[in-house]
Amino acid sequence: MRTAICDTYGIEMPIFAFSHSPEVVAAVSKAGGFGVLGASGMEPEELDRALQMISRECYGKYYGIYLIIPDNFVGSEEGGLDQASLQKHIPQGHRDFLEHLLDEYHVPPLTGTGQTRASKAGTGISLKRGSELVDIALSYPVKLIVNALGVPPASIIEKAHRQNIRVGALVGAVKHALHQRDAGVDLIIAQGFEAGGHTGEIASMVLTPQVVDAVAPIPVLCAGGIASGRQLAAAFALGAQGAWTGSIWLTTEEAETHPVVKEKFLQATSSDTLRSRASTGKPARQLRSAWTDAWEDPANPRPLPMPLQTLLSADAQRRIAYDAKNGGAGGKQLINYFVGQSVGMLNEIKPAAEVLRALNEECDATLKRITAE
Ligand SMILES: Cc1cc2nc3c(=O)[nH]c(=O)nc-3n(C[C@H](O)[C@H](O)[C@H](O)COP(=O)(O)O)c2cc1C
Repeated sequence: MRTAICDTYGIEMPIFAFSHSPEVVAAVSKAGGFGVLGASGMEPEELDRALQMISRECYGKYYGIYLIIPDNFVGSEEGGLDQASLQKHIPQGHRDFLEHLLDEYHVPPLTGTGQTRASKAGTGISLKRGSELVDIALSYPVKLIVNALGVPPASIIEKAHRQNIRVGALVGAVKHALHQRDAGVDLIIAQGFEAGGHTGEIASMVLTPQVVDAVAPIPVLCAGGIASGRQLAAAFALGAQGAWTGSIWLTTEEAETHPVVKEKFLQATSSDTLRSRASTGKPARQLRSAWTDAWEDPANPRPLPMPLQTLLSADAQRRIAYDAKNGGAGGKQLINYFVGQSVGMLNEIKPAAEVLRALNEECDATLKRITAE
């Protein structure tokens, strides 16, 4: 299956794969798709190492990076706050609640390591950090920079365009797509309600054709719920030039997904996710767990706005991950991660290249079946 976007992005299949795992990004780009590395939680040196590996692994192929620079967050007016200033915005009642939750589930404190990473939590979404990451990315053959949760800052768009690199953005509503078009974005990703991660309230089936019409001739990718070739074929029918996928890569062999989470994903049905502010402070689709149950309970404190919820939770999340990995029942009950409704279709661990090939082949077969009927 080829569309115009394949020539623009130098790919064999119009399938874009968002992942935080550099190995998944490399495997997808190597196999003829377009891998996009989630970079916003990374330190600059970490991104540098990841991009070195990706460019070595898929020499001559293209890939992109993904930032999160939201339009609105606590500290956005100041261009982002440092960690110490953000800490002052966290109410003691929220800290007490969280400590009580971990006690209730017998999740022990961490001893020794891990403090450095915690101290950076919540500061990865500013323009300053985004620009640092873009500067690193621009020294590699990246072909696309994507921003989530807002219009990419003009300075980033200009910098990318100066080097002939395209800029994409995720949208969950037509009015957001129009803002992105007006800002000069080259690729619009229409992300539906069913997607993993931060999502709006409109389903892909309804959102995609409206966005396609609103921003034409800018190419649109359909995102949300795509885990099979039949759904990919549907994306083309809706007017998209390709698919933007996230959840399906979380259960690949190469994915760095926590082993307990991977197992939970394999067992989960499409009813086991919810759109909740429990993890980042903005509505994001994730697996339901004791963590989301606690934050959704009206008797408990409300999640804090972005990035305070991430900052508040960082240490707790590491404790939970550690406990779950070591067989702790509490950690296993609490642990969760972002994933879309397509989790109900993720039943096997497979290599990323195989997942990509299967999507493409089933899409081809579907289109042939439809046109033959
Ligand atoms: C683990 C994970 C983290 C994500 N993080 C974000 C995010 O921070 N902001 C955002 O706008 N979208 C986020 N997304 C959404 C993806 O970019 C993508 O649009 C989505 O995964 C596509 O739908 P699907 O999950 O049904 O394939 C995330 C998705 C996943 C799976």
